[in-house]
Amino acid sequence: MIGQKAGTRDGYGYSAAMKESGLNWDDATFADYIQNPRTKVPGTKMIYAGLKDEKRIADLLAFLKQFDASGNKGG
Ligand code: HEM
Repeated sequence: MIGQKAGTRDGYGYSAAMKESGLNWDDATFADYIQNPRTKVPGTKMIYAGLKDEKRIADLLAFLKQFDASGNKGG
């Protein structure tokens, strides 16, 4: 997901808000987004109150980066 454009993965019906967000997922964009998805992408259908803890955000990024663009765990 990191390095890709928001709302562009095949096989999922994203909201117009996510498709038109213009976001490119990098560390800073993700950290900003996950603190409050609905502020960053008004109209998103992702219902999540947000995560503020910096350590947990860093852990989440590390977790997500384990997976390649196909969702497979890299070696
Ligand atoms: C820490 C937990 C979560 C993380 C890291 C996360 C991350 C993300 C990211 C990065 C996207 C954009 C994907 C893309 O651009 O392809 C997304 C979309 C989405 N997520 Fe989450 N999410 C979390 C929790 C949740 C929860 C709890 C729900 C539902 C109960 C949810 C539902 C969705 C939905 C429906 C979308 C599509 C949004 C749209 O099209 O507007 N997510 N999520």
